[in-house]
Amino acid sequence: MKAPVHIAVTGAAGQISYALIFRLIAGDLLGAEQPIVLRLLDVPEAMRGLNGVMMELADCATPVLNDVIISSDPKVAFDGAELAFLIGAKPRTHGMERQDLLIVNAGIFSEQGRALNEVAQRSIKVLVVGNPANTNALIAMNNARDLPTQAFSAMTRLDHNRALSQLAQKCRCPVTEVKKIIIWGNHSATQFPDLYHATVKGRPAMELVDPQWYVDDFIPTIQKRGATVIEARGKSSAASAAHAAIDHMRSWVLGTPADDWVSMGVSSDGSYGIAEGIVFSFPVTVVDGRYRIVSGININELSAERLQLTEKELLTEREMVNHLL
Ligand code: NAD
Ligand code: LMR
Repeated sequence: MKAPVHIAVTGAAGQISYALIFRLIAGDLLGAEQPIVLRLLDVPEAMRGLNGVMMELADCATPVLNDVIISSDPKVAFDGAELAFLIGAKPRTHGMERQDLLIVNAGIFSEQGRALNEVAQRSIKVLVVGNPANTNALIAMNNARDLPTQAFSAMTRLDHNRALSQLAQKCRCPVTEVKKIIIWGNHSATQFPDLYHATVKGRPAMELVDPQWYVDDFIPTIQKRGATVIEARGKSSAASAAHAAIDHMRSWVLGTPADDWVSMGVSSDGSYGIAEGIVFSFPVTVVDGRYRIVSGININELSAERLQLTEKELLTEREMVNHLL
């Protein structure tokens, strides 16, 4: 019998977690043979609802789920955690930018960073989903002084998946034929979805699409997709966000395929001239649970301008939360 993996989920009574948790207990992350313990965190006012979620978890009677702990205390929820999904944060509503959430959400991530530092497994992998995800990850990482920066990442996999899907639709091919998409920078409207290195059925994507479509249609569609979903649904994306969170964690735990990479928000090491220390989305490969930023990618003039723009926004966000770092 395998030892259970302890997985913490914050914002556990919210809509993304409701889509995520039931996939975790179905084995969609670590497989049906790997038992898990869920460690669910939410605010005290959400405990009643979270009790209901716990009842539903029990009602699934899945062999994957070994135990469930619910708490409003981060130190209880993160105790011994090996994987953590930091989802709990306020979502934006119509007309807001994700950065507008920084002031209201930032404090959550400094407190949780400190708690992770105290009680989580030293090998923990922490995925920050709550917006603005890159800078929240920066805050959590900086408040967890004894954990390695490798332990933290921010989610741009939803943008990556959106880009995959839009390009596959344009080229009328299955998503499995599309490789080497890159999301650079911030999970915000300044992100740069880069197709210059993408391939479709082994051919360069930019030979298959109109460059004007790429600049005028594709890039803004991906940049604004979150807002477009909010306009349509009246609330922000949830099932697709949970799906991307599983994709991100699977790549991180199980590795990336030899012929592809994924986009992850990680601490910049200065690659591509990006300021060190900000959490920036790069193309990464993962081997043995460690991500590595892909090096040697050619950056053309348009890409360089776009990278600088999104870097500038992240530097501004860092300034805004300097007191928490
Ligand atoms: P939601 O409002 O449905 O749920 C948020 C939950 O977090 C609530 O249950 C709330 O009580 C809880 N919470 C608030 N403060 C907390 C704290 N200090 N500790 C623990 N829990 C706390 O929101 P949602 O739709 O699930 O979205 C959650 C976050 O994820 C938002 O910030 C949203 O913008 C973000 N998001 C990010 C991406 C991405 O791609 N990175 C995608 C979608 C949504
Ligand atoms: C998304 O990209 O769907 C999320 O970040 C939610 C949002 O505010 O756009």
